[in-house]
Amino acid sequence: METLTLKLDDDGHWLAQAGAILRAGGLVGVPTETVYGLAGDATSDAGVAAIYLAKGRPAHNPLIVHVADLAMAARLAVFDARALMLAEAFWPGPLTMVLPLYTGHGLSSAVTAGGQSVAIRCPQGPLRALSAELDRALAAPSANRSGHVSPTSAQHVRDDLGGRIPLVLDDGPCVLGLESTILDLRAAPLLLRPGALDAASIESVLGEPVLLADKSQSAPVSPGLLASHYAPRVPVRLDVLPDGVLPGEAYLGFGQHHLDSHHTLSASGDIGEAAGCLYTMLRALDGPLVRAIAIAPIPQEGLGLALANRLQRAAAART
Ligand code: TXA
Ligand code: MG
Repeated sequence: METLTLKLDDDGHWLAQAGAILRAGGLVGVPTETVYGLAGDATSDAGVAAIYLAKGRPAHNPLIVHVADLAMAARLAVFDARALMLAEAFWPGPLTMVLPLYTGHGLSSAVTAGGQSVAIRCPQGPLRALSAELDRALAAPSANRSGHVSPTSAQHVRDDLGGRIPLVLDDGPCVLGLESTILDLRAAPLLLRPGALDAASIESVLGEPVLLADKSQSAPVSPGLLASHYAPRVPVRLDVLPDGVLPGEAYLGFGQHHLDSHHTLSASGDIGEAAGCLYTMLRALDGPLVRAIAIAPIPQEGLGLALANRLQRAAAART
């Protein structure tokens, strides 16, 4: 299959073309403010099955459902007062909420991997416009091969999924460059995946603390959170100071820790900047001439929590 790329233009051609593919159960690579998603019709068994197949994603790992607005979301999931407040405050935006499924939701059961909860988000940009155009929810995991680094440009999507999907929409690099924050609201608020929205902002709207899901839990609450993930092909070493870099390693600096002629996540030590370019850097450094990627220490405050989570998993033993 040939993969066509369409730039987002004003004439709406992309919307018509992507809409037609999605309506027929096909897949489209679509930019969002976080990362590029691999979108399919969440109500279509064929569409959802195609997502798992194209990504090589295990069937037990459920997908995030993307909606045009809260009204559409409320037909799929049960929103309590907390969920309503958060949707009001942060949608459209980088917050995914895990909520009980609403009766008569109409989603393909593969979206939730057969479970009784759904992860739901109203994104910014073309994915939201497509959901509105089709008046349908769209399932969209990050548009990478399963386990690989998430894509933050249309070229990244083509690198991973070229030949497997008919269309990629190109809207340039993602503004945030890191996935959405996933919050489980079925009981006390539980952070399943730290992400582009920091926990403190959520806490200030909720007026209560948010707990971080315990990685040592034996039953994974969010299956995609456990295995080695977000990983480049070459090994990754963390908390490396410039004088600890080994021959053949590429160094990714941060703040005062950097090596001339090597890359840095943020020369000024800005965590937001680092979070936004991490995936782009990992993909850029991942190549046959590099033995490993060594990464400078990064403070774990604010977005640093999300960054640390991705780095640990990029460095985790491969399964
Ligand atoms: O920013 C994002 O969230 C991007 C864009 C495209 O929206 N999407 C994304 O999807 O990162 P994905 O599939 O790469 O990661 C979704 C995570 C997985 O770890 C999955 O296990 C978890 O969400 N998840 C999905 N449904 C869930 C559910 N019902 N309960 C708990 N975790 C769930
Ligand atoms: Mg992903």
